[in-house]
Amino acid sequence: MRVKFVRTLLVLALLGNIIIWHKIWWLFTSQHLSKPASSAPSTHDTPQRLHRRLARLVTIVVRQFETFENDVAATVESVLNSFPAMPILIVCNELPYPPLEINLPNDTFKNVRLINLQPEFNKSFEERNPLYYVRTKFVLLLPDSTRISNKQFIQEAVIKASRTGAVAIPVGKNQLTCLEMSLKIKEWSLRIAKVPGQLCDAVMGRHATLVNVNTLKKLSDPFMLPFMESLYIQTTATGLKIQLMRHQFNEGKPLFRSQQSQWKLQQLQQRRERSMFEKLGIKKVVRATGSVDWYGCSRETQRCFGSIVNGVPSYLYQNRYTPPCCLAGLRKVAHHVFDNLERAGIRYWLEGSSLLGAMKNGDILPWDYQVEVGVNRDDLNRCPWLVKAKNKPIADNYGYVWEKATEGQFFKVQFSNSNRLHVNLLPFYVKNGTMMRDSWFSKNRDFPEQFLHPMSSIEFAGRQVPSPNNIRDFLEINYYKGVVENPELPGKIVN
Ligand SMILES: *[C@@H]1O[C@H](CO)[C@@H](O)[C@H](O)[C@H]1NC(C)=O
Ligand SMILES: *[C@@H]1O[C@H](CO)[C@@H](O)[C@H](O)[C@H]1NC(C)=O
Ligand SMILES: *[C@@H]1O[C@H](CO)[C@@H](O)[C@H](O)[C@H]1NC(C)=O
Repeated sequence: MRVKFVRTLLVLALLGNIIIWHKIWWLFTSQHLSKPASSAPSTHDTPQRLHRRLARLVTIVVRQFETFENDVAATVESVLNSFPAMPILIVCNELPYPPLEINLPNDTFKNVRLINLQPEFNKSFEERNPLYYVRTKFVLLLPDSTRISNKQFIQEAVIKASRTGAVAIPVGKNQLTCLEMSLKIKEWSLRIAKVPGQLCDAVMGRHATLVNVNTLKKLSDPFMLPFMESLYIQTTATGLKIQLMRHQFNEGKPLFRSQQSQWKLQQLQQRRERSMFEKLGIKKVVRATGSVDWYGCSRETQRCFGSIVNGVPSYLYQNRYTPPCCLAGLRKVAHHVFDNLERAGIRYWLEGSSLLGAMKNGDILPWDYQVEVGVNRDDLNRCPWLVKAKNKPIADNYGYVWEKATEGQFFKVQFSNSNRLHVNLLPFYVKNGTMMRDSWFSKNRDFPEQFLHPMSSIEFAGRQVPSPNNIRDFLEINYYKGVVENPELPGKIVN
């Protein structure tokens, strides 16, 4: 009797559950189905209703144009001809001079707004943010000198963009190229490649982009110049794909036809790119053509990071590794030093973190900031640069600077006078079977002489370099057990 009652109760509870789940499922699927239908215009609207609907869905943004030559006024007019009620934002870094030929107080332009990103008196931080004015779900980013003639396919673009998040619409009769961007933030690098297909990280060729406004709201600086490039690098980091569309907008007035304005534009573009990569922390760019551009430090500049405090370089706190230009520079210094030591006949071997890097991946550790080399103290006088460096820093014939360290009894070879990337030369001597060193660093680095008898060698930064034998034991004496498998970042920063 009781068992029967309990069983009935259980069945009832189960049934109730099924009904509730069904209701929830139904609610979700019906919402899912009805959402795009209600927000995207249907193809059966009358033209007037279509205009009004689109004006409530799309805000036009004109971001990049040159004050010395532009077609913004005509571009804006062409939009208003087709969509008199569509909101338009013109975004600039400073008020254009000569001013744009748009009579903003005129009622025709009541939905057009010029937004200056520059700080201004009596203007709040919010009021300088273009997104503050966007009330629509989508933003159409329009390049200067564009004519919107076909209204139908803005609608198609909206329907597509509500599925994929963003679409690219060609301007003029040019073929758009789909680009793949491999963004490696930790390594400060970006690799761009042309790829076939219709779903892209970035798009090359003159085009407009229709994008969900929420995508822009997620970006740190959506209106940075050069406009589309900086946008696509940032959207790539969020994982957004841009879908290419076949239809096209028409081109407006041809711009930058004279050689002088071409040159001017090129100069501006280069300056903007440099500033963008600096802001985004990208120091190495591999272009779609395969050429490599460096935006970090060079041999002629200071190195990319400042003085090292407590053995932890600043970039580790930014959750980044050594800038690629610095690793490349360090490899150059290392090769130069190895060549000089070998020519002079000085016994040397890879030490410390450099030996660890060689053991792990045949190179400098990705987060390391110097190269460490042990040398036999009794051999030092064989190298004329080291002899000279005892007195004062000296630049050799190739511009590398040899000097005695101020922190202890060891030597440094620097990349150049201005760039202080360096190799440390750490002198050791034998005493009763132990390799001893005079004071440098707090860390005890003495080790049994037998590690150097016989010497071994290991691949490092693209060449074979002498090393102690039994490297694993050697490193574990220097660091801790299991250091090769589990190397720690300095300063206990979590990798
Ligand atoms: C406003 O602009 C329209 C179109 O450009 C023009 O026809 C009209 O005369 C202007 N009105 C005033 C008051 O300037
Ligand atoms: C800023 O606003 C205040 C109050 O409305 C006004 O008195 C002042 O003149 C304005 N300053 C400028 C520079 O426009
Ligand atoms: C040399 O090392 C051996 C063994 O490590 C030790 O017994 C001896 O006392 C050391 N001699 C000197 C002079 O330090």
